[in-house]
Amino acid sequence: MEKLLITGGNKLTGEVTISGAKNAVVAIIPAALLVEGVCRIENVPDIKDVTVIIDMLAQLGARVEYINKNTIEIDCSKVDRYTAPYEMVKKMRASYYLLGALLGRFNKAEVAFPGGCDFGVRPIDQHIKGFEALGVKVEMDHGIIHASTGKLTAAQIYMDVVSVGATINVMLAAVKAEGVTIIENAAKEPHIVDVANFLNAMGANVKGAGTDVIKIKGVKKLTGGTYSVIPDQIEAGTFMIAAAASGGDVLIKNVIPKHLESITAKLIEMNVSVEEYDDAVRVWRTGKLTKANVKTLPYPGFPTDLQPPIVVLLSIAEGTSIVTEGVWDSRFQYVDELKRMGANIKVEGRIAIIEGIQRLSGCPVKATDLRAGAAMVIAGLVADGTTEICDLKHIDRGYENFEAKLVKLGANIKRVKV
Ligand code: EPZ
Repeated sequence: MEKLLITGGNKLTGEVTISGAKNAVVAIIPAALLVEGVCRIENVPDIKDVTVIIDMLAQLGARVEYINKNTIEIDCSKVDRYTAPYEMVKKMRASYYLLGALLGRFNKAEVAFPGGCDFGVRPIDQHIKGFEALGVKVEMDHGIIHASTGKLTAAQIYMDVVSVGATINVMLAAVKAEGVTIIENAAKEPHIVDVANFLNAMGANVKGAGTDVIKIKGVKKLTGGTYSVIPDQIEAGTFMIAAAASGGDVLIKNVIPKHLESITAKLIEMNVSVEEYDDAVRVWRTGKLTKANVKTLPYPGFPTDLQPPIVVLLSIAEGTSIVTEGVWDSRFQYVDELKRMGANIKVEGRIAIIEGIQRLSGCPVKATDLRAGAAMVIAGLVADGTTEICDLKHIDRGYENFEAKLVKLGANIKRVKV
């Protein structure tokens, strides 16, 4: 087992470069199943989730080759399987994209119900509603989703909830469906736009991604091409919050500042300085952190995936802050770990009431999920003494070279085998 040992107190200073977006690439890689030629994908983050989804594609018969650490080539021309059993998909939630992609490719998919981070109920009813509207018959049997149709036909689909996964999955299934599919009340996250841009670069006709209404005009085939994944909004936000928490001064490079507006605004409200450049943001702090209220919402709202990191920041800010989780039913499980470090937080359902304290104190904690793990690292960076974090598999799923990037900024953090 591996652990992170962090000795807190060092101010983060210097420059860090953000990697490609996890939540875009875990959809773009399965989307390659729809492409007849070779796809070259650049700016692929070197993270566990990518290895897992590449492995799934390879098991389906795709040829995936690393050109270098962050560039892959995928050739799905020989894929002849449309089944993804539990053993294959259990490691990650995003394996549900195989449903849309395999449907688009074969009009048929058999995919086990996916795994992933535990935030309470994680239904996929909107994915299924979308597929059914496209003429697909969907049945659940012994934990496997069986989806099939003679022919995918375009439809107008109104999403009852704003869902990243359902919006992308329906987009994947509709790309080659005859006619014009319209998704209303679509999610607008940067990774939705990125998947649409990837599909368009391969020959699809998707318009309106990034707005509430996405129109997909079915095309006969997608040919190959080269595509570069956007920078990771959540990784960038994590470093912004870490810089603010440590009281340092960090230039965060390779970002799209527009994607970070909700985070920038909240940090400024908390007395943190943020300066935007074309493709970088500088975050620094000279004064005390002050309280703020945060409500997580679908994009362009404050991202739920940065809720654990911002709670850490608020836990050392002067005054009482209220954080409302507006996306997931149960995303405050990690708060118990933070309380063991001295944080004064009361959780009631989807609301956390945080009384700021002067300093957290280091102790052994665990990463309960990916973003909670990142939050524990930030807590360790600012805590008195040494923080020991276990269950690193969660962090490794989604952050490329996390410790190395932090060490370069001056953090005292090391990974040890125990
Ligand atoms: C994506 O999950 C992200 N994962 C999550 O990031 C992120 O927290 C989430 O979007 C919200 O931004 C990936 O992109 C791989 P949703 P997803 O469908 O697509 C409800 C991370 O840390 N809902 O947008 O699974 C659902 O219960 C991960 O990187 C339905 O009711 O999220 C939730 O309350 C964790 N029915 C809300 O919608 C459905 O059919 C948003 O879920 C689908 C969702």
